[in-house]
Amino acid sequence: MNDDNHLSPEDKAKLREHEYDGIKEMDHPLPRWWVMTFWLTIIFGVPYFFYYTVGGGISLRQDHAERMAIINKMKEEEIKKSSNFDQAYYDNILKDEGVMKGKIVFETNCVACHKDEGIGDIGPNLTDSFWIHGNGHAHDLFNVIWNGVEEKGMPVWKDMISKEEIYQAISYVYTLRNKNLKGKESQGTKVDD
Ligand code: HEC
Repeated sequence: MNDDNHLSPEDKAKLREHEYDGIKEMDHPLPRWWVMTFWLTIIFGVPYFFYYTVGGGISLRQDHAERMAIINKMKEEEIKKSSNFDQAYYDNILKDEGVMKGKIVFETNCVACHKDEGIGDIGPNLTDSFWIHGNGHAHDLFNVIWNGVEEKGMPVWKDMISKEEIYQAISYVYTLRNKNLKGKESQGTKVDD
């Protein structure tokens, strides 16, 4: 009790009342900003806790699932948009009598469903200006021939004939567009070009 004399008057003022085994304590309050922040986190924490436990707040798992769904959708759309159509390769096929060779590929593989000159039967009429898939451009033809539309009966050709034959077939089918031969009624959307 009596050996507080070495303390400055300010320190003496900070001494608390209690004493344990001769040990006394000074009052050192935490900075105000710190205390305020502490209380704010508690005030913030209460509604936060209830919102995410019983208030219908979205869980991390749901949030992740939703974001992944958006990402996957974007991916799908990108894949749809970006055909792997190889323009340089196609140009070479064209130079190398692609259309004539393509006619043979077509007659061998495609006429069963698309009929001679592509007038259509099981498969759509390829001589009109209507397209179910894409706009009848070479890269659109590539997509549908390469990937097929299995659920509608158009086979997937990428593993059945060579890349070269597929490009030859494209170059031939491309010449059929807008010939408007009498055949299967038009399907899809009209494309003016
Ligand atoms: C077993 C039948 C069948 C064979 C064989 C076939 N197709 Fe098809 N093809 C279809 C069907 C059915 C569709 C329509 C798909 C749809 O409705 O989505 C189609 C669609 C297409 C389209 C898209 C037409 C459009 O309007 O978008 C092209 C191009 C095409 N075929 C080219 C070919 C080529 C080239 C071959 C030969 C390598 C071929 N097809 C062989 C049945 C066939």
